[in-house]
Amino acid sequence: MSEQNPSAIYLKDYKVPEFLIDKTELTFDLDETQTIVTSRLHLRRNPESNSATAPLVLDGGEDVKLIGVAIDTYELPKEEYSLVNDKLIITATPNEFILTCETLIEPQNNTKLEGLYRSSSMFCTQCEAEGFRHITYYLDRPDVMSVFTTTIIGDESKYPVMLSNGNEIERGKTEEGKTFVTWNDPFPKPAYLFALVAGDLNVINDTFVTMSGREVALQIYTEPHNIDKVDFAMDSLKRSMKWDEEVYGREYDLDIFMIVAVDDFNMGAMENKGLNIFNSSCLLASPKTTTDDAYLRVEAVVAHEYFHNWSGNRVTCRDWFQLSLKEGFTVFRDQSFSADTHSSVVKRVEDVSFLKTAQFAEDAGPMAHPIRPASFIEISNFYTLTIYEKGSEVVRMIHTLLGEEGFRKGSDLYFERHDGQAVTCDDFVAAMEDANDVDLSQFKRWYSQAGTPRVTVTDEYDEASKTYRLHMSQMTPPTPGQPTKLSLHIPVKVGLVSANNEPLSFVYEGNTHDETVLHLKDAEQTFVFENVTEQPVPSLLREFSAPVKLNYDYSTEQLLQLMSGDADGFNRWSASQQLAVNELNQLIVQYQAGQTLSEETQLLKGFATLLSDKTLDPAMVALILALPSQAYMSELAEEIDPHGIKAARKHLRELIAKGLEQEFKVAYETNTTDGPYEATAEQIAKRSLKNAALAYWVAAGSDEAASVAVRQYRNADNMTDQFAALSIIVNFDLPEADELLNAFYEQWKHEALVVIKWLMLSAAREQENGLANVKSLMEHPNFDIKNPNKLRAVIGGLGQNTQAFHNLDGSGYAFLADQIILMNKRNPQIASRLCTPLTRWQRMEPELSGLMKAQLERIAGEDLSKDVYEVVSKSLA
Ligand code: ARG
Ligand code: ZN
Repeated sequence: MSEQNPSAIYLKDYKVPEFLIDKTELTFDLDETQTIVTSRLHLRRNPESNSATAPLVLDGGEDVKLIGVAIDTYELPKEEYSLVNDKLIITATPNEFILTCETLIEPQNNTKLEGLYRSSSMFCTQCEAEGFRHITYYLDRPDVMSVFTTTIIGDESKYPVMLSNGNEIERGKTEEGKTFVTWNDPFPKPAYLFALVAGDLNVINDTFVTMSGREVALQIYTEPHNIDKVDFAMDSLKRSMKWDEEVYGREYDLDIFMIVAVDDFNMGAMENKGLNIFNSSCLLASPKTTTDDAYLRVEAVVAHEYFHNWSGNRVTCRDWFQLSLKEGFTVFRDQSFSADTHSSVVKRVEDVSFLKTAQFAEDAGPMAHPIRPASFIEISNFYTLTIYEKGSEVVRMIHTLLGEEGFRKGSDLYFERHDGQAVTCDDFVAAMEDANDVDLSQFKRWYSQAGTPRVTVTDEYDEASKTYRLHMSQMTPPTPGQPTKLSLHIPVKVGLVSANNEPLSFVYEGNTHDETVLHLKDAEQTFVFENVTEQPVPSLLREFSAPVKLNYDYSTEQLLQLMSGDADGFNRWSASQQLAVNELNQLIVQYQAGQTLSEETQLLKGFATLLSDKTLDPAMVALILALPSQAYMSELAEEIDPHGIKAARKHLRELIAKGLEQEFKVAYETNTTDGPYEATAEQIAKRSLKNAALAYWVAAGSDEAASVAVRQYRNADNMTDQFAALSIIVNFDLPEADELLNAFYEQWKHEALVVIKWLMLSAAREQENGLANVKSLMEHPNFDIKNPNKLRAVIGGLGQNTQAFHNLDGSGYAFLADQIILMNKRNPQIASRLCTPLTRWQRMEPELSGLMKAQLERIAGEDLSKDVYEVVSKSLA
């Protein structure tokens, strides 16, 4: 690594800022080679600070060149300020003054994509978390909130559109004949919510009338060639605005709301006040270029960023340790919105499946952290599945504990109490407690303890007294820095199922129920159910009421029963997954012992029932048919054997395919959609089952199925069907694979987002020379390493390519390490994220584990960015 390693900062060291900035006036003189930023900061000492003489310390960056600095009208000579470690320090200041700062930046050379940078021909910004300091010197921390006025000066022929937060208040010409536009945002905000966009953009206009009758102008901007792909985003935005009024009573506040799509973006999207900026992959959608999954993602991300206007902007975070305050809550809000818009069970299965695969893996690795971390080296590394997805689960548990109405009372109080403030997770929980007169002190341990809790359940039934007992115990495994854990307050939703698949009612704590929430709070606890008329099958953790690993020793018969008969749709899926996991694990053991793999599967029976039940939602059937993924099986494994998992999945898939070939053919043929493409729950459900059935049908090996797949590819009028067919053709290596993969590229080479899909599918293709193919993709004229979407597509595809990535010669890992080293300084955020697969080295089987570790050590030998340093050093610790 390097001489002075970056050091951690700690939540316990939080101090209020020494200064406040009441007003921030910015002028950007945009230019192709050097952009001049002038800032006028209206500063005053913070009355809450203990010091009356503390120096003014402003955050900056190595890429910001200071031209001049003045206090009121006094230009500071060099002796009166200092620049140390990218900070501008002024020791003697008045108590209240205007600081004027002139800085020079080079957006065209900004490859990190934080601060002000260029994407295609436009200027755009990304300031969360600490990007603003790469624009000018500032108190770049979320508890410093200021009213921003921003003037943008530019050449109108190149940048006819120049946007910033709030309302446009002035426009005119400068003496040199350039255009200027001034924006004012009346809502005080931290610098991370600042945004600027300038470019030759097209716009779609719409309006929304709020619940109090105000008309809001809605605008979505894109580069001209994409403006035909924003109707769905606009519709999603209007539905989100309505939903937030109806469900949370939250109304939009400014007169204008703008969204801009940019191609080069490190993350998904950003909730800048009144001016959201999106990765174009999370905004653009059209039937011919966009799959159903991507449509749903656009809808969810548009909602997510819009919802931040209250959960994030009006009430923001005191410091970055509180990130989950806005992200966990906002993910919970966007998940609820999608659930209300489509099917809530389907949405829940998708979210939980993602959580159990990716977040559980994070929680079991060297980067494990609580949803409110106690320390970090680089905050960008903490935009994690734990902060977002587990954070959402924690908010969901509060919702479960308080109920719909109680939760709403709590959120109303939270917004009312803290409007205009920068607050903490404790403030959020306190509002929930105060509005409902409950004590959540034990529950709050979820904010400070990392790791996925294990809940073990056993039961006993007493025929004579009709009493049923559930014994539960909980244990949270050690995580880095947290060897021992306290017991959590875990809500466990349960129901009981009879032998003939009926809900069994029971008396619990004096009341009769079909379903209830048990409060598991101790290390071990017994719950007693009365009036239980027969030995039940317990349906545990319904709707996944807590983010835990639940262990109950179900028999195959019990799982089959729950799968077809449980009243809780989520647990039907859960039972099917457990059944498949059990079978895959047996196959993996057989594979590793060099035995022939078993030719029997209990899943046939369950799947046959499922496929013949016309009352079921086809989307649920498709989800149940999907075998546990390679990634999920890896997460569950004691010691990960990627090749064993792959072989087991392939074998089981073929067994099911052959056993139910006719049924899959019928499911394929009966789940066609009529009419033009629509991203409705009903159509999406049918396409998902149709394409899941096609994959199995092709897996059974008939020529007929193969030719149907090719026909679907050629005749498809939407990307969902076209890409599903292509993926099947490529993954099963049908003779047409090469030809159609090329044809697909030729057809779509001008659509960046489709090229990304092509790159990913090509990189994931398992073939003899897999790695060489990946390397040639990175040489392809349409590849661009500066575009995070394209880089992620190729590297992500490689990660799914078991043969190439987990090659026993170590070449896959070495190639990944090369890319990390290459991106380390160019784009540290992306480089750090590319490290994720290597952070799992301790869980891999010994040979692969050693190979991964060697690459981490090689990376550690480089001069590393803070981002990569943190992940690599923690992984090797
Ligand atoms: N707040 C954004 C969201 O809606 C994400 C910003 C991510 N920025 C970063 N530097 N990691 O979730
Ligand atoms: Zn967010």
